[in-house]
Amino acid sequence: MAAKKLFLLPGDGIGPEAMAEVKKLIAVMNKAGAGFETDEGLVGGSAYDAHGQAISEADMEKALAADAVLFGAVGGPKWDAVPYEVRPEAGLLRLRKDLELFANLRPAICYPALAASSSLKQEVIEGLDILIVRELTGGVYFGEPKQIIDLGNGQKRGIDTQVYDTFEIERIAGVAFELARTRNNHVTSMEKRNVMKSGVLWNEVVTATHKAKYSDVKLDHMLADAGGMQLVRWPKQFDVIVCDNLFGDMLSDVAAMLTGSLGMLPSASLGAPDAKTGKRKALYEPVHGSAPDIAGKGIANPIAMIASFAMCLRYSFNMVVEADRLEKAISAVLDEGYRTGDIMSEGMKQVGTAEMGDAIMAKYRAA
Ligand code: NAD
Ligand code: IPM
Ligand code: MN
Repeated sequence: MAAKKLFLLPGDGIGPEAMAEVKKLIAVMNKAGAGFETDEGLVGGSAYDAHGQAISEADMEKALAADAVLFGAVGGPKWDAVPYEVRPEAGLLRLRKDLELFANLRPAICYPALAASSSLKQEVIEGLDILIVRELTGGVYFGEPKQIIDLGNGQKRGIDTQVYDTFEIERIAGVAFELARTRNNHVTSMEKRNVMKSGVLWNEVVTATHKAKYSDVKLDHMLADAGGMQLVRWPKQFDVIVCDNLFGDMLSDVAAMLTGSLGMLPSASLGAPDAKTGKRKALYEPVHGSAPDIAGKGIANPIAMIASFAMCLRYSFNMVVEADRLEKAISAVLDEGYRTGDIMSEGMKQVGTAEMGDAIMAKYRAA
């Protein structure tokens, strides 16, 4: 059996703390014969400190050669003043762009044990299971021009450019429709066609893609601002939401809070299947950032990172049994009352990052 090459990029802040819990799981799975081969690199502020770059060329090559990249988080106040081109976040953006990871899957699932502790009413989020499909390599994140120009009159102008071509919208819509067919067969496309030309095109192309290939799937369109409101009002009306890079960034943070905490939400970033092998390049990362306010304290919630690894098992290695087992282990540990600080509520058992990771690992082994 060919080795399964995992490249680990723990990053900054709570990234390495959460990644440590995944490393324990990899070791357990390898003992049982999973055959993961791991290597580790630097990204973000830690890479900047070592090489003056947010990711080195050598680590980029390793990321390109791996079957899957596991990514922690980047950023923090220490690097607030570094040049824009080499800021920690640039490392993540380069990985997404150079690996062509255009499809970012951000599921938001409400675990039964947490239904009562959301900031929203229990009936609003109980049983919630939605999937945000975010376009990840286009839009305002990468469009040119992107610059600050000096107007010479004491004024400056900051410019970002939202650009989408037909093929980019078609391929992300295709991913959303395909995934909807494996779920509740319903896609909601969100844009702002009322003010943005790229929104008009987005709407047209999603509609045409639907008509041509996916008319069995129910399709709705919503303006993205109203979509944000609906996500908080009655999120269970959604199954799959498809949107551009920036709207997807914002809406997925909102969706994360529906489930209790940013510390709960995993993600998978996938490229197109290789024409010969059918394999997709992939990077798995929690939706949360480096959480500088709690970094170094051993209290971060590792569930988003562990659930991202479960997505890696499922999407990159087709280890469906192990992925299910790991997701069930997370749910069972929550049922038993284990809580990190971010999801703590009265009467529950407050634990740190390592204790939460250990409890999930113990459940996984026992299953
Ligand atoms: P953040 O996600 O790091 O933190 C927001 C809030 O959520 C904080 O109060 C934090 O303590 C809490 N939180 C996040 N993850 C948690 C976890 N696992 N357990 C418990 N609590 C958790 O967002 P921010 O503060 O806006 O950004 C901090 C830095 O992270 C910035 O430099 C930003 O650019 C970067 N960032 C990186 C990524 C990434 O690496 N993918 C994502 C988002 C933000
Ligand atoms: C995310 C993050 C990133 C983004 C940043 C860190 C570049 O917020 O993954 O959601 O904006 O995409
Ligand atoms: Mn974000």
